[in-house]
Amino acid sequence: MTTVLITGTNKGVGLELTKLYAGRGDTVLACCRDPEAATELAAVAGDVEVHGVVVGDDASVKTLSTVLGGRPIDLLINNAGTVGPDAAAQNSYTMDFDGWADTFNVNTMGPVRVLHAVMENLKAAGAAKVMTVTSQMGALSLDVVMVHAYCASKAAVNKFMRLAAIDLKQDGIAVGLVHPGWVRTDMGGPNAELSAAESAAGVAAVCDQLSLENSGGFWKWTGETHDW
Ligand SMILES: NC(=O)c1ccc[n+]([C@@H]2O[C@H](COP(=O)([O-])OP(=O)(O)OC[C@H]3O[C@@H](n4cnc5c(N)ncnc54)[C@H](OP(=O)(O)O)[C@@H]3O)[C@@H](O)[C@H]2O)c1
Repeated sequence: MTTVLITGTNKGVGLELTKLYAGRGDTVLACCRDPEAATELAAVAGDVEVHGVVVGDDASVKTLSTVLGGRPIDLLINNAGTVGPDAAAQNSYTMDFDGWADTFNVNTMGPVRVLHAVMENLKAAGAAKVMTVTSQMGALSLDVVMVHAYCASKAAVNKFMRLAAIDLKQDGIAVGLVHPGWVRTDMGGPNAELSAAESAAGVAAVCDQLSLENSGGFWKWTGETHDW
């Protein structure tokens, strides 16, 4: 049994990841912005502890660190993410710069903020793992010409986590990135290819195969390697 901390667990892929790990008998530290409104999360069976955490806010994430104390965490899944401003306001001609900054704060700095907050907890677990849910749209090899601020925020988190994989090897912590597929969530919309449960199953399988040997990798939810 392991302890898994997941962000963005009130809905979408994060909610399904919570159900999956709780169903396996793991302890899930389920983080979301507004626990009182997270009714589906509250109904998940198993060992699920809900924590109110705003990944874009330093004070909120530091509070999480204090609450957790020295408790070991085996797996951190950075899942919370935002697509950012209206698509018409994030392209090469028009940019909502405040919205881009917010997108960067949540999608790029959020995972790093949470990683720093639980670093000692990961070290305490021994052989811990960190998986960040990124997007194929952050790959420099794939030009989907839309939501440029979102794409840039995911490209940036990809680069950071690749460097973190090198840094954290000395602590025995493996770091990976996963594209969860095109998923039927509020973000992916109703016409997407995968259910959130199918995506979560793929993401969890990618977490299972993450190790110090392949640390720094970027995978699809299918387990295939993703081009950078
Ligand atoms: N759906 C897709 O097709 C797709 C494709 C590629 C990558 N992804 C990535 O997969 C991850 C999960 O997305 P999803 O499809 O499950 O989307 P979702 O259903 O929209 O859920 C997004 C989660 O992130 C949280 N979140 C959004 N904005 C936030 C903010 N400003 N601060 C803190 N938390 C925030 C949401 O909390 P609130 O409810 O409080 O906003 C929610 O828990 C994201 O990182 C996304 O970029 C999704």
